[in-house]
Parts: sequence; C-alpha cells; structure tokens
Amino acid sequence: MINKNHVILFSISDKKKNSNFILNIKMTNIDQTFWQDRWENGQTGWDVGYAAPALVEYMKQYPNKNAKILIPGCGNAYEAAALFDLGFTNIHLLDIAPYAVENLKEKFKAIPQIHIWCGDFFHHEESYDLIIEQTFFCALDPLLRPDYVKSCYKLLKPGGKIIGLLFNIHFEKEGPPFGGTLLEYRELFSKNFTIQKMESCYNSIPPRAGNELFIVIVKKTTDL
Ligand SMILES: C[S@@+](CC[C@H](N)C(=O)[O-])C[C@H]1O[C@@H](n2cnc3c(N)ncnc32)[C@H](O)[C@@H]1O
Repeated sequence: MINKNHVILFSISDKKKNSNFILNIKMTNIDQTFWQDRWENGQTGWDVGYAAPALVEYMKQYPNKNAKILIPGCGNAYEAAALFDLGFTNIHLLDIAPYAVENLKEKFKAIPQIHIWCGDFFHHEESYDLIIEQTFFCALDPLLRPDYVKSCYKLLKPGGKIIGLLFNIHFEKEGPPFGGTLLEYRELFSKNFTIQKMESCYNSIPPRAGNELFIVIVKKTTDL
C-alpha cells in the first residue's frame, strides 16, 4: 500500500509537492539527529510501503539462501520480510535512527533470521556476502560517496556483491535525495568493483519509473 505522503519526497513527476518536503540544508547537517528527527516527525517520504519489485525479482533467482545479507539505511525494511519469505536465513538490517530500529525490533521480533543493528554504516564492522542498496546511497551527502564505496568494499567478503537501485537523475532541489548518473557511478565504483550490471531498471515502482538504474557490482580482489 502506497502512503501518499510517503511517495512525495522521492516522487520525480510531482515537483510542486516535492518542494514542500525536500529540505534546503547544509549537507553536513545530515547526521543521526537529522534522521531521528525525520522519523519522529513522520517525514519519511521515501517510504513506499512495500519491497522494491526489482530487488525481489533479482533475489528470487539468487541461489545461496544462507548468504549473509546487509541492508544498510534500511528504514522500514520491507525487503527483509520479502527476503525471509523467499527463504533467506541470514538477513542483517542497519539504520542510524533509533526510532526506525525500535520499530524494526518490534516488527521482526519473532524472526531470528533477521538481525537488527542500530548504528552508522561507516562504522559498521561485519562481513557480508551481499549488500542490498535501496535509497540509502542517495540519502548520503554526496561527499561521502567515496567512503560509501570503501565501506562496502570493507564489509564485503571476496567476490561479495552490491545489488540494488540507484537514481539516474539529478534532482533540482538540494537533497536528500541526491541523484547522479550512470557515468558518475561507473567512475566511482570501477576501481574496486567489477560492474556486472548497471542499466535502466525496467520494473521500478511507478513514481521512480525511468529514473533508476539496477546494479550488480562485484568486489574485486585487489586492495583499495
Ligand atoms: C531515505 S531513507 C531510506 C530507507 C529505506 N531504505 C527505504 O527505502 O525505505 C535513508 C535511511 O538511512 C538511514 N541512515 C542515514 N544515514 C545512515 C548511516 N550513516 N548509517 C546507517 N543508516 C543511515 C536513515 O535513518 C534512513 O532510515
């Protein structure tokens, strides 16, 4: 179920409504307090209320159901429920906002296959087979993008993958969300990752249709 308010922040077609929700802030203010405030005030316009079909379709054919999976900046983590339904057994959710994390703990309390972390992605220390990207990269200060790549590299096992969705559009307003282009992302990732797939997403949710890339990016074995 799509909550109308929720679609607004990341809706591309309705720029009039967008202007009410996208904050003009100094990028350095996008910290834990910023996100906690957004959650506490119900300003979660990114939340579409269900798992992205593109991710679910991809994961349906992912062979290793015991893969250790991280969803950073997971928010309400609809993907986690979908992964569990698909038989995945080792799903880790990470969010910096305690408010979001408390919701997740309640929601998934009966599912031991879903592990929940409250913390900063850039300080997270674990080792994963797969990172699922869904409107986390675009929520970060673009200056942090090289650090995002480094953190993904550090958190992934050899041959580990990032799969997910990236915006293929630059937004008029200052973010979050912050957009980008295929060329920028190629440049950013290609030194330390092999780009297996970075292409226009054919099954985006309607408000994002035509403006997303589906990515499958594999960690190279060389050091950063
Ligand atoms: C735009 S929301 C996306 C949420 C979810 N992925 C979705 O698609 O509904 C970004 C989320 O990332 C979290 N976040 C922001 N910075 C973070 C960080 N450094 N480490 C972990 N989580 C972070 C925020 O609290 C927020 O829940």
